[in-house]
Amino acid sequence: MKHNDHSPLIQRSDFPADFRWGCSTSSYQIEGAINEDGRGESIWDRFCSQPGRIRDASSGAVACDHYHRWPEDLDLARSLGVNAYRFSIAWPRILPQGRGALNEQGLDFYSRLVDGMLERGLQPWATLYHWDLPQVLQEQGGWANRATVDAFLEYTEAVTRRLGDRVKHWITHNEPFCTAFLGNHEGNHAPGLTDHKTALLVCHHLLLSHGRAVPLIRRQVADAKVGITLSLHPISPASDSTEDAAAALRHDGLRNRWFLDPLQGRGYPADILALLGDDAPVLLSSDLHDIATPTDFLGVNYYFPERVENAPGLGPIATRVVETPEVERTAFGWEVDPEGMVTLLTRIQADYAPACVYLTENGSTYDDELLPDGSINDEQRRSYLERHLAATARAIAAGVPVKGYFAWSLLDNFEWAEGYVRRFGLSYVDFQTQQRTLKASGHWYANFLQAGEIEK
Ligand code: FCB
Repeated sequence: MKHNDHSPLIQRSDFPADFRWGCSTSSYQIEGAINEDGRGESIWDRFCSQPGRIRDASSGAVACDHYHRWPEDLDLARSLGVNAYRFSIAWPRILPQGRGALNEQGLDFYSRLVDGMLERGLQPWATLYHWDLPQVLQEQGGWANRATVDAFLEYTEAVTRRLGDRVKHWITHNEPFCTAFLGNHEGNHAPGLTDHKTALLVCHHLLLSHGRAVPLIRRQVADAKVGITLSLHPISPASDSTEDAAAALRHDGLRNRWFLDPLQGRGYPADILALLGDDAPVLLSSDLHDIATPTDFLGVNYYFPERVENAPGLGPIATRVVETPEVERTAFGWEVDPEGMVTLLTRIQADYAPACVYLTENGSTYDDELLPDGSINDEQRRSYLERHLAATARAIAAGVPVKGYFAWSLLDNFEWAEGYVRRFGLSYVDFQTQQRTLKASGHWYANFLQAGEIEK
């Protein structure tokens, strides 16, 4: 059965039978209930309380009220026909003081949530850190303080001990680039700092905490599959000039290689280290070894490509991202480039050959409108989804071991510094009534997934 009149670019039957189909969310963006059941303050609560930080002056205090409405939300995920659900755990619900005293009510919440997934045939994929650090740890220096690595291990230990009998898929960090650089250099994410050297130290500690968590998770969880999720971009020069070509290489060095190289056991890229000078993080002797602990998969979040020009004097890397004229863009201004995903994935495969790759996020935001008949006709998002699924299939055909795709996001939610202005959901959320309505894109995804199942 086809949902739209044009012939589909792609069908579920074009993918391997064991391909994972999912959708993604994260704790702070959907849960709300920030003061309930013993949850501690997170850096995002604090950041949102500071005037001017969030575009619509909002916060995740209520968000999608998922903390109370999770059964309905898991039903919604189930209705899509996905067989996996990626969510994140809020550290301040588990250890309100960052470390030390465990909050059983927080663990109970995730335990019920996981049971709810399993009852509905949704394989749980848990992300340990999707940006909501306990505020009390930030007051001790946050991720710039090496002790936060140990705190993360304590948190990981508590969560895996409780959920590890049922959750087998673990992602340590979501997009360490964003945590480190948006949070500590650009300052537009929590904790809102603007220091490059701090961002690089934060980045190092995030990677170190990832590497150290891997064996811990394996010890606690029988048959664990462990990985990390990176936000990666295909990068190209803005012009044919040799200066821009060199700039693209440098930009790729900090945006992509800075993560992939050390995770792969190659250490930090020498060309970038040389440019960073004193800003480079100070390493202890076993750090690089720990960071390179082998994992089971690489999580890739793909949103858009970046074109880069040489920008002398603009920071140590001296590059600037420029807009490509006349390209298709989402309402956020992000370039829509499905083929860029193929370029990115084949490049990762050629240069790093991870055992397998999961697309842990991919999605788009548009100015959705709830029509009087109760429908949301988000044709652009539907088309975005279809074209990126077709691109995923092309990457697989080119030899990239992509084993699953998670759409961002199940629900419209709190989009960080953009507040509720940006809707990324396959379901529309009316934030006044908390009513959820599947958008046309969600219906399309459900149809795509379920038509494939019927055919099999
Ligand atoms: C990613 C984040 C996710 C969401 C999407 C739109 O960078 O991981 O939480 O904000 O972008």
